[in-house]
Amino acid sequence: RPAQLPHDEQAVQQERLGGAVGLAGRCALVTGAAGGIGRAVVTGLVSAGAGVVLGDLDRDRCAAAAAEIEAAGLPGRVVPAEVDVTDPNAWSKFARTARRHFGYPTLLVNNAGVLGRQGLETITADEWDRVVNVSQRGTWLGMQTVVPSMHLAGRGAIVNVSSVFGQIGSGAAFAYHGAKGAVAAMTRAAAVELARAGIRVNAVSPGMVRTPMTTGLPEQFVTDFVAATPMRRMATPYEIAAAVLFLLSDDASFVTGTDLIVDGGYAAR
Ligand SMILES: NC(=O)c1ccc[n+]([C@@H]2O[C@H](COP(=O)([O-])OP(=O)(O)OC[C@H]3O[C@@H](n4cnc5c(N)ncnc54)[C@H](O)[C@@H]3O)[C@@H](O)[C@H]2O)c1
Repeated sequence: RPAQLPHDEQAVQQERLGGAVGLAGRCALVTGAAGGIGRAVVTGLVSAGAGVVLGDLDRDRCAAAAAEIEAAGLPGRVVPAEVDVTDPNAWSKFARTARRHFGYPTLLVNNAGVLGRQGLETITADEWDRVVNVSQRGTWLGMQTVVPSMHLAGRGAIVNVSSVFGQIGSGAAFAYHGAKGAVAAMTRAAAVELARAGIRVNAVSPGMVRTPMTTGLPEQFVTDFVAATPMRRMATPYEIAAAVLFLLSDDASFVTGTDLIVDGGYAAR
């Protein structure tokens, strides 16, 4: 496996997330948060003092992740919630859980995503729907469900997790490219639509990150990707979470409609 930052360096990265400005006491929803990038985002938000509802498909994985974060004794709070982001009713329930625990949600991270690796010629309609529904429909439903609370609160910040694959081709993963490109386009459209309401909408586009999503990939694919990455390594989930937390924070108060690429230089070549 390609080189990664040492473990103690990751602990420092995690600790730094607590410095994000203006998130203490805020109510946040994060999807796809039982592991990987989403879980790192939740840890960062709780470190910064937010009340977070940690959403994912499986109730037990959510509960386990929330219990571990809670046990770290960070300043904020975390509550687990089972949610399928493709289901509007599940979103309504998710938002109600957030309001009940922490008041009107003013922070939203649409992070849930699934990787489909088939190309344009081989992908089935079912596989297309699976990939596009989680990333594109899920991101739209999330924004549509939570924005009314942001209107009531008079402010809000949303980060949608896209991918470098939303911007460049790879010769495979056709639906994933389409879904992530749509996430970036919806981010810009929502940013313009919601700017006057004091709601900022941005995207983060990671390169290759070490998470459960990438640990199942063929060795050669990962090795080739890292070789094509100018920084010659994968990101840690905390390096992506740091970009998400910046965009949610008051330090990004004039930033909306942008797509922050966090890829070690991959897309710059
Ligand atoms: N890991 C990478 O290299 C990488 C690169 C670019 C973008 N991303 C994106 O980052 C995000 C997080 O991915 P990750 O790498 O942490 O992978 P991950 O597989 O660890 O996390 C994705 C999570 O989404 C959840 N999920 C899937 N379908 C869902 C649904 N219908 N409703 C609710 N939750 C659902 C999964 O259970 C999982 O916990 C994804 O959107 C992914 O596409 C990842």
